[in-house]
Amino acid sequence: ETRCDLAGQKLLVTAGATRESVDPVRFFTNHSSGKMGYAIAEAAVKRGADVVLVSGRTNLNPPAGVEFVQIDSAEEMYQAVIARYDEMDIVVKSAAVADYRPKVVHTNKMKKKSGDLVMELERTRDILAELGARKMHQFLVGFAAETENVEENARGKMERKRADMIVANNVAEAGAGFGVDTNIVTIYTRDGEAQQLPQMSKADIADRILDAVVAARKQEA
Ligand code: PMT
Repeated sequence: ETRCDLAGQKLLVTAGATRESVDPVRFFTNHSSGKMGYAIAEAAVKRGADVVLVSGRTNLNPPAGVEFVQIDSAEEMYQAVIARYDEMDIVVKSAAVADYRPKVVHTNKMKKKSGDLVMELERTRDILAELGARKMHQFLVGFAAETENVEENARGKMERKRADMIVANNVAEAGAGFGVDTNIVTIYTRDGEAQQLPQMSKADIADRILDAVVAARKQEA
């Protein structure tokens, strides 16, 4: 089955985890494998979109046909996304971006000392919130990785970050969220009813998200 319902649309998707350096040999990261974001990129290419995939380091091969941009830190992801934002029609933020990074990045490898180590962390920039603040014609899709109060947090995120859609996954459930090949999501839109999907492959979820994007944009037009 080939649907070309995204033909000519420019879609940027972020995927994977960021790496926040401590020193030349150490970094903070998270468990995102990139699978969710790469599935969205692949599905969007199949539906005719021009796709930019901005990704942290993963074990995956970028899908054929995407423009691939690899980044390490949250700040690099911010720069890569903002630089391309104006020309995009749809942006999907499935990456798991660090909220904090070490305040000091040591130039040399930190030496082990006796006793505990206390490290100060500072906030990174919130890319989704910045995209919301700068939004013009773009359709903005955020993710919400929650472990409790999923609906309340998802709707709150949609409001605060001026997103048009939030895909919420309860990352504490088995078969959902980080690392695995399946996900269990609920799709929230501004005026639409919440769409709760059963456990599906990330490939199928990707198509359902894109179906919802196409439907919501039709409604807006
Ligand atoms: O990569 P996989 O292993 O397949 O796992 C998929 C996933 C669990 C990572 C994915 O489905 C997911 O939930 N991605 C969002 C993870 C996340 O960081 O959620 P959050 O609730 O902390 O952030 C909310 C939104 O703000 C996200 O769209 C995030 O990309 C964005 N954000 C967060 C922090 C930041 N500094 N900038 C951001 O843009």
